[in-house]
Amino acid sequence: MSASGPIVLTGDRPTGPLHLGHYVGSLKNRLVLQREATQFVMIADVQALAANAEDPGIVRDNLLEVACDYLAVGLDPGLTTVFIQSLVPEIAELTIYFLNLVTVSRLQRNPTVKEEVRQKGFGTRIPAGFLMHPVSQAADIAVVKAELVPVGQDQLPLVEQTAEIVRSFNRIYAPVLVEPRALVPAEGARLPGLDGKAKMSKSLGNAIFLGDGPDEVSRKVMSMFTDPGHIHVHDPGQVEGNAVFLYLDVFDPDKPGLEELKARYRRGGLGDVAIKKRLVGILEDLLGPIRARRREAAADPAAVLRLLRQGTDRTREVAARTLADVRRAMRIDY
Ligand code: TRP
Repeated sequence: MSASGPIVLTGDRPTGPLHLGHYVGSLKNRLVLQREATQFVMIADVQALAANAEDPGIVRDNLLEVACDYLAVGLDPGLTTVFIQSLVPEIAELTIYFLNLVTVSRLQRNPTVKEEVRQKGFGTRIPAGFLMHPVSQAADIAVVKAELVPVGQDQLPLVEQTAEIVRSFNRIYAPVLVEPRALVPAEGARLPGLDGKAKMSKSLGNAIFLGDGPDEVSRKVMSMFTDPGHIHVHDPGQVEGNAVFLYLDVFDPDKPGLEELKARYRRGGLGDVAIKKRLVGILEDLLGPIRARRREAAADPAAVLRLLRQGTDRTREVAARTLADVRRAMRIDY
């Protein structure tokens, strides 16, 4: 494990396998951070259960999928501490203490919570566990005293609320916790869906998964949204807002070649199939090795679980030290 650099914590809810959007938006960044920081990556099974309480199979099945995705892209368990949220009871304990520092109305005003309540259609029947997820997320972060929290734009209000809770705790009891900062990926790190919609997501059915086979990838790329006005090969085509070019901008290593291609597409005379074939080849170069490592990991689930348990043990050592500080600060260190 990297012994230096800032302490970083991120997490994913295990509600589905990870896709190219995750790769571009967060996984790539974690590959850099694991060399430059002390990095914790949490599989947020407790948080995932808050929205799937009656369907725990989803969380159970996807925990290993997500872990295999991590290993497949090159998260190295020797450099990154990957752990399972539910196996760290210190997080649950810290959540309880933090709940005293937050009002229900403040939780209801949290923009991330509001948006998710809307998306999930809870109406007024919001599960209490779901409503308090900014508090448990604050505990996830504070329990390892993380300084940096790499998250998507949509999660910013959660990190802000964490900082608020930590500030209150430090003011009321003793300054033992660390106020975290969010680390939001650059604008270019957002991958649109295959349909050109702003976001790639499993629920929208517009995603390429890291474990998709070559035929699946090719089929999905061939179905991608381009320019609806580009009907015949010789018609001038539009590059802006064309999902295939948005992907090429992200993945094509040959930028001068790509600029030439865009100019030809704009002039007319370049077909959609040609640009899609180019994209399939580029994605295959990226996904081929990931797929192979994923298959290797998935072939030995017991070994994957063993790695997760080791990461969890390391996390619990850190968490126990934090909770000792917390209990002393709160004068409950009997
Ligand atoms: N809410 C995050 C998501 O939806 C997952 C998560 C849980 C998380 N706890 C966290 C992310 C702590 C960063 C820090 O992806």
